[in-house]
Amino acid sequence: MTAIVHRAMSRTNDPRLREIMASLVDHLHAFAREVKLTEAEWEAGVDFLVRVGQASGATKNEAMLLSDLLGLSTLVVLLNNEQGRGETDAALLGPFWRNHSPECKPGESIARDPGGGEPLTVSGHVKDLEGKPIAGAVVDVWQASPVGLYENQDEKQPDHNLRGRFETDSQGHFHFRTVRPKGYPIPVDGPCGELVRAQGRHPYRPAHLHFMLTKEGYKTLVTQVFADDDESIESDVVFGVTPALSGHFEADGAGSWKLDYDFVMQPGERRIPRAPIP
Ligand SMILES: [Fe+2]
Repeated sequence: MTAIVHRAMSRTNDPRLREIMASLVDHLHAFAREVKLTEAEWEAGVDFLVRVGQASGATKNEAMLLSDLLGLSTLVVLLNNEQGRGETDAALLGPFWRNHSPECKPGESIARDPGGGEPLTVSGHVKDLEGKPIAGAVVDVWQASPVGLYENQDEKQPDHNLRGRFETDSQGHFHFRTVRPKGYPIPVDGPCGELVRAQGRHPYRPAHLHFMLTKEGYKTLVTQVFADDDESIESDVVFGVTPALSGHFEADGAGSWKLDYDFVMQPGERRIPRAPIP
């Protein structure tokens, strides 16, 4: 069977598509043979994929969530970013990034509705592999609210709440104000939720801030910084945490918090990912 399918696909003009599909068929067939997939199980699998598509829409990308839950998103990110030259670890984009978030001035607050959260000041430097500051890098940040929901999951929050884009100054410095994000469960009302329950997994992500750093001449850095005091830091449901990405949220004793985190970008292509949701 496998050889016949290879032959049928052998005239694919695009060499990379030919390589990817040949390998995918090899592994898919090997998987079916290994578990001796029954017809009923195959039907359940096809039905699952259909429902993943149906559950996706303007506010939800269930397909990306599935990729995240299977560890594929983090694997792909690490395969493409881990050069070991001191660059910041990348982390998965996640299903909630939106393109064209508001352009903000240095120090501005992205908490257009703070939602009763504890104030947090975030600052840091963006550097290259030699430690030199990168001026004019765009630091795009997005995060969940103090109740653990992104603005597009929550009708109570204003549009683009807790999202903003900042530019580094001549020293590579950026800073902004926000509120402390809360850890949150991934959406479990769709087929991915069924899977997580069937596997006895908890659905939580540790509290984090998402970052996308872009600058011409540098590889786009998509990453996340996690609260090192979160109880799910060791068991992120989508496997995004690496030791270097755990950040320390420092308390000032008066209910406010501070996070300092520096980013290191590597040379490469400035590539803007396709937004998982509009
Ligand atoms: Fe997130």
